[in-house]
Amino acid sequence: MTARPCPLLVSKRPDPEPCRPQDLGKFEVTVRDGAARLGRLHTRHGVLDTPMLLPVINPNIRTIEPREMWEKYRVNGLITNSYVTWKHERLREPALADGIHALLDYPGVIVTDSGTFQSYVYGDVEVGVEEIVEFQRDIGVDVGTMLDVFGRPDMSREEIEHAVEETAARAPASLAAAGENLLLNGPVQGGLHEDLRAQAGRLMGDAEGPHRGFAVHPIGGIVPLMEQQRYRELFEILLAARATIPPNRPIHLFGCGHPILFPLSIALGTDLFDSAAYALFARDDRLLTPTGTVKLGELTEWPTHSTALFPHTPAEVRSMERDERSTLLAHHNLEVTQAELARCREAVRKGTIWRLAEQRSHASPRLREAFEWVLEQLEETEEGPVGESALRTIASTDPVRGSSEQFSDDIDGRPHLLHLNALLAMRWRRPGSWWDGSTDKAERVVILTGAAPPWRDSALGSAVAALAEEPRTIVLISTPVGLIPFTLEDVSPWCHIDCADSLWQMMLDEEEIDVWLDDLDLADLPLDIHICQPDPEGEAGAENRAAIRQWIDRCAIVDKLSLFCAIPPSAACELTEGMTARRSRTDRMVNVNFGEQHCLSPRLPDGALSLTLAGARRLHALNPTPPTTFDEGVTPSESDHPGIPRVLLMDDAIPFVGQGRNVIQGFVLGADAHLIVGQPCLVVDSQGNLVAHGTANATADDMAFFTKGIAVKVRDGAMK
Ligand code: GUN
Repeated sequence: MTARPCPLLVSKRPDPEPCRPQDLGKFEVTVRDGAARLGRLHTRHGVLDTPMLLPVINPNIRTIEPREMWEKYRVNGLITNSYVTWKHERLREPALADGIHALLDYPGVIVTDSGTFQSYVYGDVEVGVEEIVEFQRDIGVDVGTMLDVFGRPDMSREEIEHAVEETAARAPASLAAAGENLLLNGPVQGGLHEDLRAQAGRLMGDAEGPHRGFAVHPIGGIVPLMEQQRYRELFEILLAARATIPPNRPIHLFGCGHPILFPLSIALGTDLFDSAAYALFARDDRLLTPTGTVKLGELTEWPTHSTALFPHTPAEVRSMERDERSTLLAHHNLEVTQAELARCREAVRKGTIWRLAEQRSHASPRLREAFEWVLEQLEETEEGPVGESALRTIASTDPVRGSSEQFSDDIDGRPHLLHLNALLAMRWRRPGSWWDGSTDKAERVVILTGAAPPWRDSALGSAVAALAEEPRTIVLISTPVGLIPFTLEDVSPWCHIDCADSLWQMMLDEEEIDVWLDDLDLADLPLDIHICQPDPEGEAGAENRAAIRQWIDRCAIVDKLSLFCAIPPSAACELTEGMTARRSRTDRMVNVNFGEQHCLSPRLPDGALSLTLAGARRLHALNPTPPTTFDEGVTPSESDHPGIPRVLLMDDAIPFVGQGRNVIQGFVLGADAHLIVGQPCLVVDSQGNLVAHGTANATADDMAFFTKGIAVKVRDGAMK
């Protein structure tokens, strides 16, 4: 019998494919959740799938061989130092003769730094601004770094201003020296000053070279902050810099590599990390874990496992020779780093990166302080670059989720819930007419409490009874995250909160109720609170149940059109006049017809709306003019209900998109500022004619910048 090959043995991994020449340096986003994104940076040595960490390779001491990183750990990119390579003839000569990929024996993406960090640690470096870029170009680096001026946090404002200005002044010559093939990092300095970070982001983002601008923007000068665990300031800098860095460029946190920082950094928009921590900590007998650092010291068992540690006990590792021990621990540290990044990427995919950041925040008091500070910025945005970034984080987050929402004390600060609540406060309106045909003003608010979802089972009887008793009643449901109109009972995350049963029985306190009623503009009405009863036989209002239910259904569609498609409630009322709906076996509306036409369906996973082509045409007719072009700027509308958001398509793409193909970034001429990722939008031509409809896969800001990836996932072409 022949032995079967062991699936754990790694077979040789093929070399990467170079990108198409026209894609060199382009960054595309495949999945986004607010500021967090899964991206692909295209290079001549393959794609960097982000968020990822570039392990630092010291060309003099290779703790883990680059080839092993490629083969065994599937590390697609690493970072090394071009200044160190340039300085040592023993490295410089073979690098110039055979290239940096041959010198390191690594086929993936090689990023290099420029010597700026050495100037910070050791004082001046003796290489020129153009010279170091030309060297990086000549040794075949994929992404090099210009010689920026390191801005230390303890420098005076004047010194930091100089670091920002001098770095920006060196940008054009550096970009010119890079030539056609070398992509460049454009570091953003600015110390602890929010305005200088934003200024640096703008200057470096605007810098142009003969072939392209910068491909990546590292945030520089932050190593001292991480060494001192000044995480609040670190995240303030990230938010400030992100306000002005072009959205189509990856953001790299220079020198950040502790796994504890990954989830929140990624949730706030970091795409790349780099660090020597895996090797440096190992040399010091320290183990990285996703929740902190642990000394090998007197450990009896491992706090986190890895393939490197499984075969050994801590006592065995302690008894190893120093070099053997630190090599083993470096392998462990790299594995933990890679595993935590994979966990973060999966969380972005699943819409749970914020929850992961929240969980990790409990691992360290300083990280917790930083996390709470970030929540404050989201909940009460202030003027300035940090506030702008915080607002953009909320507005760029799909407000609904298809999966359950784990409850926690911090749940209210999650950006998708903040977005959903903001839409509710801005766009929800009281009904203009009631189930009995009356059009008088609302008489009262009834809050239904004590019921868990699905509320169409647990609270419908109580809602019907309240409406039968007084038709001009606004029925709200009490949830662990606030009050919502009964008409939105199937919208997730409200209806998918994963929490203890007791929380559904708990009533909000008076103060909380007042705040919610104020947000919904209902504070002027008399209030009754009803504890939900299981649907009683012969309930009050049974004879009018059908009429009441029909009215609730219609209100639900009006409210959803208003919330998710920005349709004015009065227009939505006209559209839904005489609407009919088919219900599923679980008693949810599935197909909604206006007149004889199936126009939309509530989406089963999240309760938002999915349009049909007929529905898209009806909404288009309400708003037939084209949106403004990006040249005229992406300006928010003054109206709370500016109509269904539209994307203005280039003529070249019309035949394809009109047949149902997706809208590709780079073919978009303009977009309404109120476009919501994950929600319906229309695609129109420059006369405003409908070309297609679908769901937005990017914000309007993104569409103005990106040239690769999908802008709109098209559901139907209008020209088939
Ligand atoms: N490595 C860590 N911080 C920095 C920085 O600010 N600039 C450069 N070029 N490299 C770094």
